Amino acid sequence: VSLRSYNTFGINVAAKYFAAFTSIEELKELLSNDRPQTTNHKLILGGGSNILFTKNFDGLVLKNELKGIELVKEDADFFYVKANAGENWHQFVLYCIDHNYAGIENLSLIPGNVGASPMQNIGAYGVEIKDVFYEVEAYHVYDNAMQKFSLKDCAFGYRESVFKGKYKDQFVILNVTYKLRKQPLFNTSYGAIEEELKKMNVKELSIKTISQAVINIRSSKLPDPKEIGNAGSFFKNPTIPNEKFHSLQNEFPKIVGYPFGKNETKLAAGWLIEQCGWKGFRKGDAGCHAKQALVLVNYGNAKGEEIYDLSTKIVNSVKEKFGVELEKEVNII
Ligand code: FAD
Ligand code: EPU
Repeated sequence: VSLRSYNTFGINVAAKYFAAFTSIEELKELLSNDRPQTTNHKLILGGGSNILFTKNFDGLVLKNELKGIELVKEDADFFYVKANAGENWHQFVLYCIDHNYAGIENLSLIPGNVGASPMQNIGAYGVEIKDVFYEVEAYHVYDNAMQKFSLKDCAFGYRESVFKGKYKDQFVILNVTYKLRKQPLFNTSYGAIEEELKKMNVKELSIKTISQAVINIRSSKLPDPKEIGNAGSFFKNPTIPNEKFHSLQNEFPKIVGYPFGKNETKLAAGWLIEQCGWKGFRKGDAGCHAKQALVLVNYGNAKGEEIYDLSTKIVNSVKEKFGVELEKEVNII
């Protein structure tokens, strides 16, 4: 089965086996040991928007298509909203805005599905999933058992969780329950949002106007995967000790960094990459986006290895110029 339409990078690789499931019963049946496609090599796939395939997948791809959204409970301050993993993330955000469930408006227009949202603790414009997370229900691929994870169990960090870390490829996330506010707490801490709201001439803040501001900013610099293949930021923004930041600042006065905890600074990897001359670079169909250097792109028929090789060259040149090691954010398969 060609996976080209199942990954937003648009990489043309094949999977040995491929199946989609729309219910837990179907998932159990697909995982049962007496099937001919039984293999230890499994990949759970959502929207394919954070994956780079570098070769054919010699196993079973399981596409999660569990649908449904439900208000499971409420208390004085919160709505607890449970969404099944196969729901499209942005559609879910719009649904919450429509119902006045506040807290994820800053995460508008992030591609992919609900099920992947805890994987790397998706984040944008001052908000991360951990800020609104209540619980996850997941199914163990090898033990065939259901398990619940609380906020603490997930060990969320910047673009990290137990699902991306120690439990990688072990659990199928079935649904996620979010704790959303009845009274919104508007988060406009990210400078670009304030600017955009002014441009939009917004007089009174609402979760809807914040969502629209985020949509406008994102559309102005991030490539739409329908037009140019990509998986968003290819690398994480690296964190370095404050002392190292200050010495880099002496050498590169315009370097972009933000405080991260007390002792560390988070650098804008896009700035580092741009300074190394990669922004807008293209070789064959593999490139570095002209409006956002942190995003690697496939202009058409690039192979996964070509994107991967480009990423290695970028890592090396940033290391050489700044002494900073970039870590990949995208899942390499
Ligand atoms: P996939 O790519 O299908 O899967 C990603 C990983 O999660 C894989 O390892 C997969 O095996 C695993 N997985 C997926 N679903 C499940 C499940 N149900 N159970 C268990 N494991 C699962 N990310 C951000 O955090 N912030 C951003 O601002 C952002 N902007 C982006 C902009 C663009 C243009 C693009 C293309 C991507 C962007 N991303 C961003 C990355 C991406 O949107 C997120 O990582 C998203 O959560 C991926 O969802 P998905 O369903 O496509 O996951
Ligand atoms: N910058 C440059 N040149 C570039 C790109 C960025 O100089 O080509 C500098 C600018 O100074 C800019 C700063 O970097 O002010 C930050 O850029 P931006 O606001 O675009 O955010 P980012 O740090 O590049 C991160 C996330 C994004 C998320 C945005 C908004 C990571 C790895 N990426 O990008 O997430 O949408 O912040 O919060 O943390 C993703 O994960 O796929 C993703 C797109």
